[in-house]
Amino acid sequence: MKLFLDTANLDELRAGAKWGIVDGVTTNPSLIAKEGKPIKEQIAAICDIVDGPISAEVVAVEAKAMIAEGRELAKIHKNIIVKVPLIRDGIEACSALSKEGIRVNVTLCFSPAQALLAAKAGAYFISPFVGRLDDIGATGMDLVRQIVAIYENYDFETQVLAASLRGPLHVVEASLAGAHIGTLPFKVLDSLFNHPLTDKGLDQFLKDYNKAFSKK
Ligand code: G3P
Repeated sequence: MKLFLDTANLDELRAGAKWGIVDGVTTNPSLIAKEGKPIKEQIAAICDIVDGPISAEVVAVEAKAMIAEGRELAKIHKNIIVKVPLIRDGIEACSALSKEGIRVNVTLCFSPAQALLAAKAGAYFISPFVGRLDDIGATGMDLVRQIVAIYENYDFETQVLAASLRGPLHVVEASLAGAHIGTLPFKVLDSLFNHPLTDKGLDQFLKDYNKAFSKK
């Protein structure tokens, strides 16, 4: 499974990129707004840090305007994936942009039927939101499992990008469910490293070594 960072924060992206395990980046209007810079400027800076697919979301909600905005975003860098919401106009924009060769991430997906529409519209990525379904008492990961099964049934090329992942268990479950990509906030990526037995074992190794070889 590929791991993307779900952030527009440059410090977090630099820290993640240093580990050599970040395959791409997803952003959304809320994440861009948090950084306080115009979207084109922020996305260009992100493209300089991570060499992989970088999702940049349109803010228009009408198809014609979404298509125009998507074309502009795609010009920023060859790695840009234009993100559109899963509404009627978003699916129309996805179809049009995909036909032009612009890769599209269809976001705010909460049902397998919606995911089917995105695949038929030629989406490059579909983004089911796991945590937000959990928030309303549903089992978000079931959605990922259903989409993976549907896409496999019909050999759709759309990749399943599990989003709204809130902790390590979500990441493991998404990979078991067959998601192609998981996008993680920095703190979730960082938490994947942690295990008390790793710390305990390393502590013991170093104690033993130093006891044997340090000057008395
Ligand atoms: O980028 C979209 C998604 O990952 C948002 O996650 O935690 O705000 O539901 P969350």
